[in-house]
Amino acid sequence: MRHPGLVILVGAVVAGLGCKSTKSAPEVSESQAAQDAGTSLRPVSAFDSIVDTQQRSVALFVEAGRVITHPRCVNCHPADGVPRQGMDQRPHVPAVSGGPSGHGTPALPCTACHQARNTPLVGTSLRSVPGNPKWALAPAEMAWVGVPLGAICEQLKDPARNGGKSLEALHHHMAEDVLVGWGWDPGPGLEPVPGTQRALGELIRAWIDTGAACPSP
Ligand code: HEC
Ligand code: HEC
Repeated sequence: MRHPGLVILVGAVVAGLGCKSTKSAPEVSESQAAQDAGTSLRPVSAFDSIVDTQQRSVALFVEAGRVITHPRCVNCHPADGVPRQGMDQRPHVPAVSGGPSGHGTPALPCTACHQARNTPLVGTSLRSVPGNPKWALAPAEMAWVGVPLGAICEQLKDPARNGGKSLEALHHHMAEDVLVGWGWDPGPGLEPVPGTQRALGELIRAWIDTGAACPSP
């Protein structure tokens, strides 16, 4: 490991979280929530019967919104620089900041704890530390925490607030990006987002092809 001191820090943090969360057993409530929520996405063909193109477009986005508004995604898209954790979207413990680049501060970069892959933990109620090669906080202009789906939709379409992306680039990001893909493979103890990344890509494709209409905020 590159930084033995940081590894000890992670261990201490994880042990601390483990103690605190013994009573609430978050991994149990997450898997229960997964069963309750339904884990698949409806295919594009399920929306063929909606004759009005704009209404069909909105309905396709609402279905994709089951992924976009899932805490696995939203937790990394705050306005205040503070990542959230868990299905209850509590502020990240320990207190961290995305810093100017989203990768944390020089003193405490995300990579001090988040590796390139999910890291399973043994002997704590926290079952893994999430990981991905691109792990970083989304910029504040892409904020989704507490934002209604219609407003997220408008943000996604706005090049001034989506990293200068065309709709094609937005589709590519949703369908192919490896950090987005983490949502379906978040590691032990965390509920994945519904469906597959491929199914999300197809919904976004069909949403764009029907005029990329947004639900009213
Ligand atoms: C000191 C260690 C540490 C640092 C630094 C750190 N994290 Fe974390 N992070 C963790 C641990 C441990 C968890 C898992 C906690 C849990 O699941 O309850 C976690 C969980 C998360 C989650 C929650 C995933 C989910 O959907 O529940 C997000 C998002 C996150 N971190 C983002 C970041 C970002 C972005 C940075 C850098 C700006 C960062 N973290 C820096 C230790 C750290
Ligand atoms: C670990 C943090 C993290 C997680 C988890 C995460 N994102 Fe992001 N997201 C980012 C960062 C950083 C950017 C900006 C960099 C980039 O565009 O690649 C971003 C940008 C985006 C964008 C670009 C356009 C915009 O306006 O927001 C989309 C779309 C997006 N994320 C979708 C998702 C979806 C869908 C999920 C869940 C399946 C997700 N993200 C989960 C960090 C995250």
